[in-house]
Amino acid sequence: MNLDVNSVVVITGASSGLGAALATNAASRGCTVVLVARRADRLQSVADAVTQRGGRAFCIVADVSQESECNRVIGEVIASHGRIDVLINNAGRGNMNSVEDTPTEQWRSMFAVNVDSVFWLTARALPHMRARNAGSIVAISSVAGRYGHPFNAAYVAAKHAVVGFIAALRTELVGTNINATVVCPAGITTEWGDVTEGGSIGALYGAAIPRSRTIARESGLATAPLSRMMSADECATVIIDAVLAGRSDDVFTHTGTKDIAVQTVQDRCAQEDRFEALWLAMRQAYDSSHGTT
Ligand SMILES: NC(=O)c1ccc[n+]([C@@H]2O[C@H](COP(=O)([O-])OP(=O)(O)OC[C@H]3O[C@@H](n4cnc5c(N)ncnc54)[C@H](OP(=O)(O)O)[C@@H]3O)[C@@H](O)[C@H]2O)c1
Repeated sequence: MNLDVNSVVVITGASSGLGAALATNAASRGCTVVLVARRADRLQSVADAVTQRGGRAFCIVADVSQESECNRVIGEVIASHGRIDVLINNAGRGNMNSVEDTPTEQWRSMFAVNVDSVFWLTARALPHMRARNAGSIVAISSVAGRYGHPFNAAYVAAKHAVVGFIAALRTELVGTNINATVVCPAGITTEWGDVTEGGSIGALYGAAIPRSRTIARESGLATAPLSRMMSADECATVIIDAVLAGRSDDVFTHTGTKDIAVQTVQDRCAQEDRFEALWLAMRQAYDSSHGTT
């Protein structure tokens, strides 16, 4: 697809991290970007950065974990700009708790922000795309939407739901010029790992990864096949390029992660064994941070 001066790209979670990088990248391709998130000051800073580079950005302060807010977002975009060419469902948050420590409110909030918002925004935006028989729906899932990771089961389940939602949507879009793409990144250097509900999962990984190498060495287990962290800008380039290429499939941004996803489908247990040293180290780090050892 082409983005031109009339094109409108809506990006949720645009106040930081990947969403902010997607905003500056998309705007640099000549379109208008509509930035959505809760923190008005951070959103405005991203809009200012876009404007300083000659782009056009508009902000909508909204909490996409609420249906009425999602309805308002799409209503405001159509009222102000008349069309939506690309909807990037990027807003998301993780959690950090074992299954038995996860409060019900945290489980629900993981689904509200990571899954419900994707459904509400997509369902409201689609009639406007169908009217023009053009558009692209993108949802940022995660490798956590493809295979399991410990101590954030609510997030992992939510991101799996996003993959299923986009796969189902694609089957409803057959015969149209509307694309549906799910993106499955591995680690990106953003605030995400610090602001997870229940505690910092970034800190848990930070403690566990060196420990896992010792466990692997001492016990003869494999060293977990972790991919290199990507910057938000690098990841945004892969995603915007995929949108422009008209891809209507599942996008893996990090080298090696698609192979792991394929192996998971073929033999989930064998694939999980490859990560055993890391999962053991994460259990040790979780237990020591929660005073259970
Ligand atoms: N970082 C990683 O390693 C990684 C890996 C795979 C997938 N992802 C996914 O990538 C996406 C972007 O995350 P990131 O890494 O850029 O993290 P981030 O810097 O924490 O950004 C998350 C964004 O989501 C917004 N957001 C959170 N809750 C919201 C709500 N209720 N309503 C509206 N906006 C909300 C935040 O804005 P406000 O707080 O201002 O609302 C922020 O702009 C997420 O879906 C995340 O799950 C991240």
